[in-house]
Amino acid sequence: MLRSLLLLLATLLTAAVSTGGTTPCSPLDRAALLAFKAGITLDTTGILATWSGDDCCGGGWEGVSCAATGTGRVVALRLESQPRRYMEGTLSPSLGDLEFLEFLVIRDMARIGGAIPETLSRLARLEQLYLEGNALTGIVPGSMLAKMSSLRHLSLAGNRLEGTLPPELGSVPGLEQINLAGNRLVGGVPSSYRKLSSKLAYLDLSNNLFSGIIPEFLGKLKNLLLLDLSNNSFSRPIPASLGALQNLTDLSLSRNKIGGRIPPELGGLRSLNSLAIDDNMLTGSIPKPLFTMQNLWRLNLSRNKLTGPLPDFSDAGVSRSLQWLDVSRNAIGGQIPSSIAELHELERLDISRNKVRGVIPAAMATMGNLRWLDISGNAIVGRIPENFSRLAGVRHASFRGNRLCGQIPQAPPFNRFPAAAYAHNLCLCGKPLPPCRKIGSVSGGLTT
Ligand SMILES: *[C@@H]1O[C@H](CO)[C@@H](O)[C@H](O)[C@H]1NC(C)=O
Ligand SMILES: *[C@@H]1O[C@H](CO)[C@@H](O)[C@H](O)[C@H]1NC(C)=O
Ligand SMILES: *[C@@H]1O[C@H](CO)[C@@H](O)[C@H](O)[C@H]1NC(C)=O
Ligand SMILES: *[C@@H]1O[C@H](CO)[C@@H](O)[C@H](O)[C@H]1NC(C)=O
Repeated sequence: MLRSLLLLLATLLTAAVSTGGTTPCSPLDRAALLAFKAGITLDTTGILATWSGDDCCGGGWEGVSCAATGTGRVVALRLESQPRRYMEGTLSPSLGDLEFLEFLVIRDMARIGGAIPETLSRLARLEQLYLEGNALTGIVPGSMLAKMSSLRHLSLAGNRLEGTLPPELGSVPGLEQINLAGNRLVGGVPSSYRKLSSKLAYLDLSNNLFSGIIPEFLGKLKNLLLLDLSNNSFSRPIPASLGALQNLTDLSLSRNKIGGRIPPELGGLRSLNSLAIDDNMLTGSIPKPLFTMQNLWRLNLSRNKLTGPLPDFSDAGVSRSLQWLDVSRNAIGGQIPSSIAELHELERLDISRNKVRGVIPAAMATMGNLRWLDISGNAIVGRIPENFSRLAGVRHASFRGNRLCGQIPQAPPFNRFPAAAYAHNLCLCGKPLPPCRKIGSVSGGLTT
């Protein structure tokens, strides 16, 4: 009672001193903000020190924005920290009193702990909720999120949240972004997520402890741009349905326990820029359609159990945009197809630690954009083609651990790489290794 009288008085006073006709900060909202401030025991960002005086709208309260219509209601609270600065404390339930709030961002405060207050469910106008990079504990509050009917962007990434994914999220209409990366969440993707908003563009569940299957219904989220399930314990094969995601630009399934073959249907991801399925248990050969994706520039299939030869790139038509190709640490056999030279944009090629045989195709000397080449740990024979000396832009190369013989191209950068890059071969010679013997070498160490 006394509190409301005081608030009323404060309003009248500020109204009296305010100029320009706009209503200053609503006393209710001001009280809610001050209660939030009181829940923060230490603030090294300096933000909350600016929260003084009566007018939280026009009084220079950092991070607070009010309605342009001059109602004095707070519509946005955006608190973001700089590196090594932080706030320590908990989130006051009073945040739920900011009933006109549309944007709530509390980011990278590092030491704000405790649970996400249930009172946030009263924020019916909230469109964006970013509580990322804090130290929040407890569960992802499903019943609270279910009541936020205006919510479009949700990020609770980089906290210490536990428990499972709330089934309720599947029924929040209009969700465009879900980012729960970097928590300690367990369990599978609830079947209620088959009803997830078709507007969903961004789903990041990476760096958690999720397990179970990658649901086939994710392939129905036609507007997905990014799907990141990396660094979890998802198992079983990749559903072929994902190949229907025409707008997807980023797909990361790295560091899981995914088995089975790579579905050739993934070749239908025509907008894809980056495909990372490294560090899983994939078997079978690399499907050729992966190299027909016109916009793909990064493909990482490292650390699996892939077999078979590398595909023939000559009829791949289009994969011309590929810049990074990593198929290292598999059991890929066959030869390096000379058609690999048709990947003109390739900057980084890693075929290391496989079972590749045959010779290095001389045509690779035409790959003028190559900066990084690793073919170590295979069973490649013959010479390093003389005209590799044309590949002047290569900054890192390793031919180590093959069955190569003959003279190393005696031009930079190849004669300047460390000797280790050529170690454990049959009979390579020339700088940086000892000179080739002129005559008498049976095994090919000849300069002429
Ligand atoms: C995997 O996720 C955990 C959090 O669950 C994180 O601590 C770890 O650094 C992540 N690993 C990598 C390689 O990103
Ligand atoms: C994909 O993106 C285009 C434009 O970028 C958009 O018009 C379309 O609605 C999106 N969704 C699908 C399913 O193609
Ligand atoms: C592929 O993923 C592995 C980790 O699994 C990583 O070490 C490597 O750098 C990645 N390659 C590229 C080209 O990004
Ligand atoms: C490199 O040499 C091979 C065989 O000697 C030849 O077929 C190829 O066209 C040469 N490439 C370049 C770029 O000179």
